[in-house]
Amino acid sequence: MMLPKQVKLVEVGPRDGLQNEPQIVPAAIKIELIERLADAGLPAIEVTSFVAPKWVPQMADNAEVLRAVLAGPPRRPAVSYPVLTPNLQGFDAAIEAGAQEVAIFAAASEAFSQKNINCSVAESLKRFAAVVDAASALDIKVRGYVSCVVACPYEGAIDPARTAWVAQRLLEMGCYEISLGDTIGAGTPASIQRMIEACAAAVPIGQLAGHYHDTYGMAVANIYASLELGMAVFDSSVAGLGGCPYAAGATGNVATEDVLFLLQGLAIECGIEMDKLLAASQFISRHLGREPASKVARALLSRQGAR
Ligand code: HMG
Ligand code: MG
Repeated sequence: MMLPKQVKLVEVGPRDGLQNEPQIVPAAIKIELIERLADAGLPAIEVTSFVAPKWVPQMADNAEVLRAVLAGPPRRPAVSYPVLTPNLQGFDAAIEAGAQEVAIFAAASEAFSQKNINCSVAESLKRFAAVVDAASALDIKVRGYVSCVVACPYEGAIDPARTAWVAQRLLEMGCYEISLGDTIGAGTPASIQRMIEACAAAVPIGQLAGHYHDTYGMAVANIYASLELGMAVFDSSVAGLGGCPYAAGATGNVATEDVLFLLQGLAIECGIEMDKLLAASQFISRHLGREPASKVARALLSRQGAR
């Protein structure tokens, strides 16, 4: 199959990245990071999550950050700012802060569901159905996640049929897109393709997205393998920020800079400017007191420094 000519990147660094930083990043830094990412051309930026602050204190400033971002200058083309909502309580708080798009997050693994959201997969689907109903009454778009799509930190390998089953439930519920999370980055092109093929039998490929963590350095290869199957939406994280508090050892998402470099090399359009993205990467990395995890960012920034 021909590779897609255009790809959409969903930036998840401010949420998936910063939820996993031991230090709590001040709201003002998060807001500036999100504004810089929007200026770099990211069409969708996951801003925060409306989860229990006892569970994820890093996102306790959710309403403040979302409100400030939504009050910022309008962007052309319009940027969407989804936020994670695990239940109606989180959904109501997100709406109160002005959210126009939300994301719900299920898992293909029972053990991960318990650790992450404190309930079974079946119970989570009931909670999410209530969120989707409330959202559709307000004309709010809902994106769905499936975690542990190829492997779980507690259960090991996951049957692709199980992932496809959960993805199909989220689609039937009313999610416009299902993002497939390789939460611990253990997938390889072969296991990722097997999993996508199973999901694509139940959900049109145009409604599937890849959300790959780079724990084993496989994420860019997994994106290429997904492009080969016609997938055209990928989640990524500036500077490779990220991980998951309920998946020990999971590192960041694939770095947005690495994905952009891959896409540029393949002449696939995504509307993002590398220079502005690098500046955003440097901005948050300086704040965190370390180099970007992205090899592309490090290489390009050291070339800039040498000029
Ligand atoms: P629970 O303890 O079972 O909930 O947590 P509960 O309903 O029994 O409530 C307990 C307390 O939490 C109460 O407060 C509620 O008010 C409060 P208390 O009376 O004790 O003071 N509470 C809330 N507070 C704020 N916002 C809410 C909310 N809900 C209840 N929405 C819950 C269940 C889901 C809330 C909890 O387990 C939780 O917040 N988990 C955090 C999950 C999380 O954020 N995980 C990381 C994101 S998922 C991810 O990273 C994977 C992904 O990137 C894809 C991939 O890589 O695979 C998406
Ligand atoms: Mg993730």
